Amino acid sequence: MHMTVTRGKGSYSVDSQLIGQNINGFIIGPNIGGGGMGRIYHGVHTQSQHSVAIKILLPEYAEDENFRTRFWREAELMSSLRHPHIVTVYTYGEWYGYLFFVMQLVKGPSLERILYRRTFSPRTAWQIVRPITEALHYGHTRGVLHRDMKTGNILVEPRGQHNHVYLTDFGLGKRPGFDTTLTAVGVSVGTPEYMAPEVAMGSPADHRADLYSLGVILYELLLGRLPFLHKSPHLTALAHVDEYVPRPRALHPEFPRKLEALLLKALEKDPDGRYQSAEDMCRDYYDAVKALDADAQRTCFWVTPA
Ligand SMILES: Nc1ncnc2c1ncn2[C@@H]1O[C@H](COP(=O)(O)OP(=O)(O)O)[C@@H](O)[C@H]1O
Ligand SMILES: [Mg+2]
Repeated sequence: MHMTVTRGKGSYSVDSQLIGQNINGFIIGPNIGGGGMGRIYHGVHTQSQHSVAIKILLPEYAEDENFRTRFWREAELMSSLRHPHIVTVYTYGEWYGYLFFVMQLVKGPSLERILYRRTFSPRTAWQIVRPITEALHYGHTRGVLHRDMKTGNILVEPRGQHNHVYLTDFGLGKRPGFDTTLTAVGVSVGTPEYMAPEVAMGSPADHRADLYSLGVILYELLLGRLPFLHKSPHLTALAHVDEYVPRPRALHPEFPRKLEALLLKALEKDPDGRYQSAEDMCRDYYDAVKALDADAQRTCFWVTPA
């Protein structure tokens, strides 16, 4: 079987060909989302009737020799990650020219979607910051970089009074040569809003690039806007490289000083000037919020109306 995928309308015909198929014991169900690299389907394990999410990467990834090699080398490492706040990858493989992941199904929206309908205060943002920094720190100490930290990769599952927060797509991020870097404009997929300067430049990046992207997420959670958003993805990527981060207290005069310092440190252009571990960032966040009076902890400092 061979299929070609085009964007937009074409994906529906791909859906109709994929839905109902059996991938290594999992029946592909309805499409539940799609991002830069592929499409997500609901799935059911035939033997256990257990529901899963199946991520099927666009066929062009299987055709890219570098990506293929990396997929087989790194998918095992990704699926070895077991953490309460990381979406578990159960299995992965190749099926008729599609690379795929079978993973834990999260019954809830992404943080990207949540940000359209609610705001965050320093205190409520902690409910995201704590699990995500823990998950990131866990991956980093095992030598896995996330590479695509963004609100779309944080999933929130309501569980009674509580929400359970998950980080997904660990290690699935694109690489220079096949992504949205300034060195590879034209083959751009994905969005550069969360991109560390060194990644935008196509320079070598380490775990501190993830911590920069986490800084962007935090900035967005606390201020309700991104540090940089320009008319084109290319200009947004460039801004991370050579524009000053708009100072939180210039945007909102009452924005807490300690949290401003935290955000500016997280968004330092030079990796050496940033937080060096997710754990440090987590601790600093906790201390900064604890130092606020009860009112400030609960205040929303968003600069744009919700
Ligand atoms: N394991 C999962 N369980 C439930 N929903 C998921 C899961 N993974 C992804 N999704 C949904 O599918 C959407 C698209 O995911 P994805 O293809 O990774 O795109 P991107 O990360 O580029 O936004 C996500 O925003 C989320 O709503
Ligand atoms: Mg994703």
